[in-house]
Amino acid sequence: QVVRLDEYRPSDYLIDATHLTFRLDPERTHVTARLTVRRREGVAAGTPLSLDGDGLSFKGARINGEAAGDNAVSATPDALTINEPPDGETFTLEIETVVDPTANTQLMGLYRTSGNYCTQCEAEGFRRITYFLDRPDILSVYTVRIEGDRKDTPLLLSNGNPVEQGELGDGRHFAVWHDPHPKPSYLFALFAGSLGVVEDSFTTASGRKVDLRIHVEQGKEARAAYAMDALKRSMAWDEERFGREYDLDIFQIVAVSDFNMGAMENKGLNIFNDKYVLADPETATDQDYASIEAIIAHEYFHNWTGNRITCRDWFQLCLKEGLTVFRDQEFSADMRSRAVKRISDVRVLRAHQFPEDAGPLAHPVRPKTYKEINNFYTATVYEKGAEIVRMLRTMLGEAGFSAGMDLYFARHDGQAATIEQFLACFAEATDTDLGQFALWYEQPGTPNLSIGARYDADARMLTVTVDQALRPPVAGASSAPLHIPVAFGLVGPDGADMALGEVEGAAITQHPGEDAVMHITAPRHLIVFSGIEVPPVLSVLRGFSAPVTRVPHASVADRAFLARHDGDPFSRWEALNSLVMDELKAATGAARTGAEIAASATLTESVAALAGDSELDNAYRALCLTLPGEADIAREIGHDIDPDAIHVARRAISAQLSKACERVLARVYHELQPRRAYDPGAEGAGRRALRNVALTLLCHAAGSTDLAERALAAADNMTDRAHALTVLAHLAPDSEAARRGLDAFRTAFRAEPIVLDKWFTMQATVPRHETVETVQALTRAPGFSWDNPNRIRALVGAFATGNPVAFNRPDGKGYELLTGAIGRIDGANPQVAARLMTAMRSWRNLERGRRQRAEAAITALGRKAHLSRDLKDIIERTLA
Ligand code: ARG
Ligand code: ZN
Repeated sequence: QVVRLDEYRPSDYLIDATHLTFRLDPERTHVTARLTVRRREGVAAGTPLSLDGDGLSFKGARINGEAAGDNAVSATPDALTINEPPDGETFTLEIETVVDPTANTQLMGLYRTSGNYCTQCEAEGFRRITYFLDRPDILSVYTVRIEGDRKDTPLLLSNGNPVEQGELGDGRHFAVWHDPHPKPSYLFALFAGSLGVVEDSFTTASGRKVDLRIHVEQGKEARAAYAMDALKRSMAWDEERFGREYDLDIFQIVAVSDFNMGAMENKGLNIFNDKYVLADPETATDQDYASIEAIIAHEYFHNWTGNRITCRDWFQLCLKEGLTVFRDQEFSADMRSRAVKRISDVRVLRAHQFPEDAGPLAHPVRPKTYKEINNFYTATVYEKGAEIVRMLRTMLGEAGFSAGMDLYFARHDGQAATIEQFLACFAEATDTDLGQFALWYEQPGTPNLSIGARYDADARMLTVTVDQALRPPVAGASSAPLHIPVAFGLVGPDGADMALGEVEGAAITQHPGEDAVMHITAPRHLIVFSGIEVPPVLSVLRGFSAPVTRVPHASVADRAFLARHDGDPFSRWEALNSLVMDELKAATGAARTGAEIAASATLTESVAALAGDSELDNAYRALCLTLPGEADIAREIGHDIDPDAIHVARRAISAQLSKACERVLARVYHELQPRRAYDPGAEGAGRRALRNVALTLLCHAAGSTDLAERALAAADNMTDRAHALTVLAHLAPDSEAARRGLDAFRTAFRAEPIVLDKWFTMQATVPRHETVETVQALTRAPGFSWDNPNRIRALVGAFATGNPVAFNRPDGKGYELLTGAIGRIDGANPQVAARLMTAMRSWRNLERGRRQRAEAAITALGRKAHLSRDLKDIIERTLA
């Protein structure tokens, strides 16, 4: 039941070619798999071959064309064993199975969505279609024939290039697809149904003309235009930045409404959750556009990092995911503001990965064991995995990093690779020892840095101390020091970086045009910079060069200085953010004892200075005005959490800051009045982001929602409309205006599920205790459905992860709402149930009363009969 990395063993047999035939039927789809099986060199003839299955109904098998007798094969729903395979080196195995796509509520394998047929195979869904060596190191060339009803399924799609299509009589037709690139089974895809299409083309650098098709619900074609544009930009960018060209004649995307995750990179046929494809100004926010751009790019980039080079086993998941997230982050940085993208990514990392790494679900970026691989598509594997790649980039410099990537592509194309092989490419290409660095993949937990700096005017020396520790220590984590790249600069009194002078105590590297990096490799470093004529302010972790926590080393005055003057825009924001966080933490303490809450003048002046600085990018200024969320504050406090106190404290600081900055905010708000038609690009999005954060703060300052009401009435796009309505609904939930606004929203979008999801989320995140009852009522509202993952995430997921006040209601009713929902979903869709359960991973950090109620709710759910393996795994680890 437990799978272990150190037990990896190559399979005895390989599958060189896979011919699949699907005779589609809503309840009885016949699948024939004709496999060319090859015995691996050195394996004894006659060694039994055991194939994976999952809930399959076996109809028969033929070996080298002969029907296999009863003794030749043993079949169960979950395995097919060929007891005595033929002696020859290769043989053909033909297997017939029948599956019921309509009954498939797990959305893994072949299932139905809106009357269409669709597949999801990663990680282990292919075995729900046919018996197979369903593991990523089995690369096979696929040919797929699909037969279906012409009327219900005019579109018959699979991976690769189209080969043939024709009529079968009886209203049925067929299509044949061939994918010349050997691939693992998790990249197989089939879609059959009726959809509209948007077509375009892209010519690659070497002159291959590629047909691009995006298939969406009929009537929604216009909403796929932005996704198509993002796709073309992704294709061009991957050529330019990574030298990677597309390798088939056609690239297709299909958008479906029932999907467990965001999207899937199946070779040549990406399947997407429609919420990450469809957008127009009336229905999508700027955030939606940015997500679409990033996810289209992510799945496209997988063509090289994931598909051409795949993973040897699922422990290596970060090999494709961490690297591909890094690539999509860089793409978005190039398309928009690099600084803004970096700050947003760090906020996401801190909000999702840090708590995971500090709680019971912590695991190494490359796990050593798993019970259910679906539970390891985590922020640690994806986001921390991307940070490791970024650290390589920081340490080796742009040129060294490129050399390593080039070697990786050249050496491992067509292979199923490992993290060791990936790292070896960078070590060899740059002649660097990455032995200690590799520990980042092995050790869970977030390292903590304490940094001190002291300037000695007489000796003209700056002494910096750096201590690294895993704090709090994670059970099972080794305490070996990591190799941490700390990008830094010495900021002089004029705000410019000073020369570093002579340095002793740590290796320092600096690549042309990049920040200097100190290489922290020991538990403690004492680093001396000599020949420093004037006292500098040390700016460290520029660009957030390593995924660590840190004790702020600089005084309030120095941080205020860095917020104004640091040459690195990330560090400016970070300096400001740490000042705000300190005050929010202090305010939370005050809120618990009933003491007075006061924002300092330094803070309000720093915020006003950045907010009012029109030299800065609007989106950047918006981030400077965005206070850390309640969950961020809870994470920084770490233990004995009282979410109500945090809420009170944050509201109070926000109101005071807003009052102190009211003039700047009002000016910004009026200056940024929309003048042109909506454009989803970075410029327009930045204007709206700044104007909308100003709107929120002005409402806090005034203690009134009048401005939000007016903004709602004036809004001509979803970004402004959703923002104004959320402010209204959160600040004045019982007002007539909020009720009218919500009703109007529902009326306008009742036929648009992914838009109505915003309506569910707005209400699920109203920060007050009564929201528990609201959410309960909304589960019975028209438009809600327990069968659709997007609906569940928009209502129950948003409640549990986006509403600390209500979810953590002292009487425990919020926890019961969540565990009740999970218990209800688990039978139909274990993956979604298990994912929702992770919302309770930080329960031990709560104050005593809530902690007990949370534990009781989790324990009660854990005692229910027939829990899925997915959910059981999360519950057991959460309580361990
Ligand atoms: N590979 C997909 C992506 O990152 C996600 C697949 C998630 N699969 C899962 N079983 N949770 O783009
Ligand atoms: Zn991915």
